[in-house]
Amino acid sequence: MQEQLTTEKVILEERQGEAVDLPGTNGHGKKLYVESYGCQMNFSDSEIVASVLIKDGFQTTRIMEEADVIMVNTCAIRDNAEQRVRGRLDEFRRVKKTNPDLVVGVMGCMAERLKTKLLDEDKLVDIVVGPDSYRDLPNLVRVAETGQKAVNVLLSREETYADIAPVRLGGNGISAFISITRGCDNMCTFCVVPFTRGRERSRDSESIVEEARQLFADGYREVTLLGQNVDSYLWGGGGLKKDILAKGDLTGTVSFAELMERVAQVSPLLRVRFSTSHPKDLSDDVLHVMAKYRNVCSYIHLPVQSGNSRVLDLMNRGYTREWYLQRIQRIRELVPECGISTDTISGFCTETEEEHQDTLSIIEAAQFDFAYMFKYSERPGTLAAKKLEDDVPEEVKGRRLQEVIDLQMRLSEESNRRDIGKTFEVLIEGPSRKSPDFLQGRNTQNKVIVFPRENFEKGQYVNVLVQDCTSATLKGVAVR
Ligand code: SAH
Ligand code: SF4
Ligand code: F3S
Repeated sequence: MQEQLTTEKVILEERQGEAVDLPGTNGHGKKLYVESYGCQMNFSDSEIVASVLIKDGFQTTRIMEEADVIMVNTCAIRDNAEQRVRGRLDEFRRVKKTNPDLVVGVMGCMAERLKTKLLDEDKLVDIVVGPDSYRDLPNLVRVAETGQKAVNVLLSREETYADIAPVRLGGNGISAFISITRGCDNMCTFCVVPFTRGRERSRDSESIVEEARQLFADGYREVTLLGQNVDSYLWGGGGLKKDILAKGDLTGTVSFAELMERVAQVSPLLRVRFSTSHPKDLSDDVLHVMAKYRNVCSYIHLPVQSGNSRVLDLMNRGYTREWYLQRIQRIRELVPECGISTDTISGFCTETEEEHQDTLSIIEAAQFDFAYMFKYSERPGTLAAKKLEDDVPEEVKGRRLQEVIDLQMRLSEESNRRDIGKTFEVLIEGPSRKSPDFLQGRNTQNKVIVFPRENFEKGQYVNVLVQDCTSATLKGVAVR
C-alpha cells in the first residue's frame, strides 16, 4: 500500500481498516464491527478474526452503533500508535453508553504488550486477545457476554492459521494479502514486534499456494506475501524456524525464493508482491526469481533504518552501511528498473549529527522511490529501552526527521519525473480517489498511476503512457 508522502501520512499505523457488511453463516444475527490499525499483517489478521467469528454466526457491519461486538486490532510499534487506539476506546465508550450490552475487544500487538494491564487501565475493555489466540474468540466473546472479563494472550510456537480462509474485508477484489510467516526472531533493539508476535514460524507452503490459486479463481489479480522478514521464510513441516535449522538438514524444505516461484506459477496474470524484506537476508535467489517471472513485481521494500554502521550495530540490524548499499547495487544489476522503498528511524539512542548525515547520504545514494520515515519512539521492554539511553532531544529528532522527509520528497518527485514519457503495464484497482472519471492502478514498481476511465474496468491490465506527475502519483493515458 503506497501512502501519500506528507508528514502526517508517513505513519504506517494511520492505515485504518474498513468494516464491511457481510452475512453470517449460521446466523444468531449478532453484529461484529472490526477496526484495524498497524501494518498489513494486522489487516490480514483482521480477516482471519472475521472468518472465525462469521463461522460462529456473526455478521459484520460498518456501523459501529449497531454492533454487538466491537473488535479493534491494535499496533504497538510507536507510542503514538497506542495513543490513537486509546482515542478510539473513548469513542467506543460513548457507544457503550447507549448500548450497555456492547462487548469491546482489543486484539493485536497492543493487547499482547499490555495484557491484563489493559483491563486495569481501561475499564471499558471486555476482551484482550493476542495475535496467536484468535481461534479462541468465540469462547472469549461468550465469557464477555456474561459480564466477565476475557483474556487470552498466549503466544504459540505453531499457530499460522493456515487452515482458516480469511474473509476479505474492505478490499478492492483485485489485491489480497497472504500471510506466510508469523512472529520475528530478529530482536532489533528498538522493536516491540518480537515481544508482541512471538517466535518466527512459517506457514505450510501448500496452503499458501492453494490460497493464491483460490484468490485467482475468485478474480483477484495480485497477492502480497506478508511477513516481518519474508526472506527468512522456511517451511519444513511446521514448528519454529530455529528448530528446523537446528536439524542441519534442509532436504524437503521450502525457501522463500522457492515459495515465490510456486506462487508465480499459479498464473502469469497473477501479480506477486512481498513485504517486508530484510537487508541481511535478501538473497540473490529471490532476485533471480524476480528477474525470471514477469508477474513477480519489480518492487522491494527494504527498510534501512539508519545509514550509519555504528547505529545499525546498536540497533542489532545485522548489516552495515556497505552491506546495504551492496544489496541495492545487486538489486539494480539483477532486476533493472526495480522500484525500491525503505523505512527510516531518526534520533535513535546516541545518534550524532554526523550519523544522521549518514542516513541522509544513504538515502541519496540508494535513490529510494518512496519511504516511511519515523522518529525513534522508545518501547518499554525492548533491548534499547533496557540498555540504551533515549538521549536525542525531541526537537532534534523532529528536525532530523523533517530533513529526511524533505530529501525523500525531492527524490520521490525526481523518480516520478523520470517516468514521464514511459509506458507501464498497470493493473487497474478501481476508480481514482479524486474522480469517478479516472481509474487508478499500479505499475510493477508499485507506483500509483491515474488515467481516464474510457471503457476500462478494474482487474484489467492496461498500458499507460505517463504524461505528468506529483511527488506521490503518476498521471497518464491508456495506449493500445
Ligand atoms: N519487519 C520490518 C519492520 C516492521 S515495523 C523490518 O524489519 O524492516 C515497521 C517500521 O517501523 C520499521 O521498519 C521501523 O522503521 C519502524 N519502527 C519500528 N520500531 C520503531 C520504534 N521504536 N520507533 C520508531 N520507529 C520504529
Ligand atoms: Fe522488528 Fe527487526 Fe523484526 Fe522488523 S526485523 S519486526 S524491525 S525485530
Ligand atoms: Fe504494529 Fe504489530 Fe504490525 S506492532 S507494525 S501491528 S506487527
